[in-house]
Amino acid sequence: MNDWQELEHKYFMHTFDRTPVTLVRGDGARVWDEDGREYLDFVGGWAVTCLGHSHPAVAEAVAEQAHTLIQTSNQFYTIPQLQLAELLVQNSCLDKVFFSNSGAEANEGAVKLARRYGSRYLNGAYEVITAMGSFHGRTLAMVAASGQSKFQQPYLPLPVGFINVEYNNVEAIKAATTKQTCAVMLEPIQGEGGVNFPDDNYLAAVRAWCDQMGILLILDEIQTGIGRLGTLFAYEQYGIEPDIMTLAKGLGSGVPIGAILAKEKASVFTPGEHGSTFGGNPLACAAGYATLRFVIDNDVAGEVKKVGQYLATRLKSLKQKFQFITDVRGRGLLLAMEFSSDIAQSLLMACLDNGLLVNRVKPNALRFMPPLIIGNDEVDEATGILDEALSSIAS
Ligand SMILES: Cc1ncc(COP(=O)(O)O)c(C=O)c1O
Repeated sequence: MNDWQELEHKYFMHTFDRTPVTLVRGDGARVWDEDGREYLDFVGGWAVTCLGHSHPAVAEAVAEQAHTLIQTSNQFYTIPQLQLAELLVQNSCLDKVFFSNSGAEANEGAVKLARRYGSRYLNGAYEVITAMGSFHGRTLAMVAASGQSKFQQPYLPLPVGFINVEYNNVEAIKAATTKQTCAVMLEPIQGEGGVNFPDDNYLAAVRAWCDQMGILLILDEIQTGIGRLGTLFAYEQYGIEPDIMTLAKGLGSGVPIGAILAKEKASVFTPGEHGSTFGGNPLACAAGYATLRFVIDNDVAGEVKKVGQYLATRLKSLKQKFQFITDVRGRGLLLAMEFSSDIAQSLLMACLDNGLLVNRVKPNALRFMPPLIIGNDEVDEATGILDEALSSIAS
C-alpha cells in the first residue's frame, strides 16, 4: 500500500496542515480510513456533505447524469441547471440565479454584480463593505473582502474596493459608507471566523441602512445555507431579505457547485458580462437538484433545528463539567466550543484516536458541522467521545 501521507509531502503544495488520516470511503455520517477504521464525521467536508456521504439520492442522480450528459458549456440550454435554478427561486426570496463552481467564485460574481449595479445606478460606486473576522474565500479579491489579516498579509497589495469594518456594529458600516459604496457583504453568522453571532437586530439594522442609502445587501450563505441553521436559509431567521445571496458548500452535498442568487432589481448582468466554463454544468446541477429536492421534501431543516438543539444541550452539559470550556455557541448544526487555552489541536487528536472527526476552527476552539441527517444517537456517540477527550486533557 502507498504511504499516502509521504506522497502528499513529496508532491502536494504544503497549504494544508492535515489531520493524519487517509479517508477512502463514506456512508451517511461515517467515514473509513485506508486501514478500515471507522470515524463519526463531525467535520462534514467543512459543512458540505449535508445529506451525509454518498447519499443514495445524490449518488444516483450523479451516476445517471454522468451516463447521460456531463458538460455542454453555457452556449446551450441544459435541463438540470434550469430545474435547480427554478427550485432555488421557488424556495427563496430571490428571483434570478447564476451558477459557479465554488464559494469564492460565487462571491466574486456577487461583487461583480454589485459593481455592475453601481456602475449602472450609483454613479460608478464600487466599494463593498465587509466585516472583520469574515471569510469569503481564497481568490485575491475575496482575500481582500475577508477581514482577517492572516489571509491578507502574505498577498499585499490587495485589490482595491473592500472596506473591512468591525463585525456586529452597524455604526461602523454607516461610518464607512461613502458615495463610492455599492454594497455591504456579510455572513449571517461567521463560520470560519469562529462561529460568531451578531446581535439579533444587527442584520435588520444593516438592511435598513442599505435601503436608506440605496446600496445592496449581499448575504454570503455559503456556510449557513441549505438548512444548516435550521431553516433553508439563515436570512429567514432574521426577518430580512438580501438583494444578493451566495451559496456553495451544502448545495451539492459534496459535488462542487456555487450559486449567486439576486433580486430582479439587482440582476443587472447582460450577455457577456459574466460567465463560466463549468459553472452550472449538468453533472453538478443534477447533484444540486437532488440535494435541494431531498432537503425540501424531507424538511431536513426542521430536523436540524431539533437535533441541533440536542447537540447544543449536550455540549453545554460538557461545559458544566469542564471548567476550561469557556463558551458553547451555535445554531442548528453549526456549533463551536471554546477553551481557556490553545488545546483544540490536542482535543482533535484525542477525538480522532477515539473515532470522531472534528474541526479546529481556532487554536482555542473546535467547530462541529456534521451532516444534516444525523440523529440523537450520533450526537450521544460524538459527545461521549468528546467527553473522554476532554477528560484526558483535564487529567
Ligand atoms: C462563508 C464562506 N464563504 C465563502 C467560502 C469559500 O468557499 P470555497 O472554499 O468553496 O471557495 C467559505 C468556505 O469556507 C465560507 O465559509
